[in-house]
Amino acid sequence: MTDTAPGTPGVPTRVVPTTELDPVVEALDAGQVVALPTETVYGLAARADLREAVEAIFRAKDRPADNPLIVHAADAEAALSLGRSVPAYAHRLAAVFWPGPLSLVLQSARAWPWVQAGHPTLAVRVPEPAYLRELLGRVGPLAAPSANLSGRPSPTTAAHCMKDLGGRIPLIVDGGPSPGGMESTVVDCTGPEPVVLRPGPITAQALRRAIRDDGPVGSGTVGGIRGGEDPAEADPGSSTPPGSTASPGTRHPHYRPRARVVLVDDLATVDADEAMTIGPVLTGARHPRRWTDLRELARHLYAWFREADDLGVPVIFVERVPAEGLGEALMNRLLKAAMPDES
Ligand code: TXA
Ligand code: MG
Repeated sequence: MTDTAPGTPGVPTRVVPTTELDPVVEALDAGQVVALPTETVYGLAARADLREAVEAIFRAKDRPADNPLIVHAADAEAALSLGRSVPAYAHRLAAVFWPGPLSLVLQSARAWPWVQAGHPTLAVRVPEPAYLRELLGRVGPLAAPSANLSGRPSPTTAAHCMKDLGGRIPLIVDGGPSPGGMESTVVDCTGPEPVVLRPGPITAQALRRAIRDDGPVGSGTVGGIRGGEDPAEADPGSSTPPGSTASPGTRHPHYRPRARVVLVDDLATVDADEAMTIGPVLTGARHPRRWTDLRELARHLYAWFREADDLGVPVIFVERVPAEGLGEALMNRLLKAAMPDES
């Protein structure tokens, strides 16, 4: 199937299913960029070792040049071999959570400044989908940020990718809606203990439990996952949990629809009218979106943001969730989405 986004000049953008890997391999080996599904969100991938291909990712997304990319590898061995002096606790996290939505920041064993954006470190992860690990086995490690235009909500369908990048990239792999819907947890593994840089589907509690169970980190520092370690300490006014070091990308606007996002404690108290509401209850708003558990909210949040924009909704009221477990990552994204424009 060939399709080009309406009104967008440039290259025709082809869409293929995950069962058709040959054209994807061909495109990536030729140094092209390809949007493809992962278990979290869709990524915009290029071969990590090809400088010009990776530079094309930054151009296609309008991504700030100082924001490094995550490299995806076929298995833990391939991923960890991209780092050096990898601490024992990082091996443990890899063994427990890969393949899965966890990115580990390591001292880089590669000289890939185009991926690392000038940093001495490299973020790596092993994604879950079998088709993708097969692809990685064939083409080698792929650098891939989320496949949205910079500043927009991450895409969770091939149609979202087409909307943002149609005419800008040659190929989109369609794997249906992303099962997770939220970007991976990013953990800095360059120090004596892991530090959460971006909360995500692998919760601080799960990370702490994994390390405590095995204990490659001495018991004195166990419980030492910093970054949202204790939900009770989380400052609801701050987008970065205490103790966490912000990822380079967190300086840039993120996850934001065009509609204004307003966080409320109780949707029932809101006079929503023309608005979209997102919460555990159905409201009288024109566009109510209801979730029954936090996984469902994570799966749909960005798609709902994009729907609101397609509908021309001026404001989205979102009911806050408890900032613990998956809720910590959700509140992180919601607070960024609700952040007023600095300009
Ligand atoms: O689930 C995901 O992580 C998705 C899928 C496609 O894998 N990718 C993704 O990439 O969300 P991106 O580029 O949208 O977000 C990557 C985050 C950014 O906040 C970036 O600053 C941070 O990871 N990051 C990447 N490399 C880093 C490094 N070397 N040190 C610290 N943070 C890093
Ligand atoms: Mg992103």
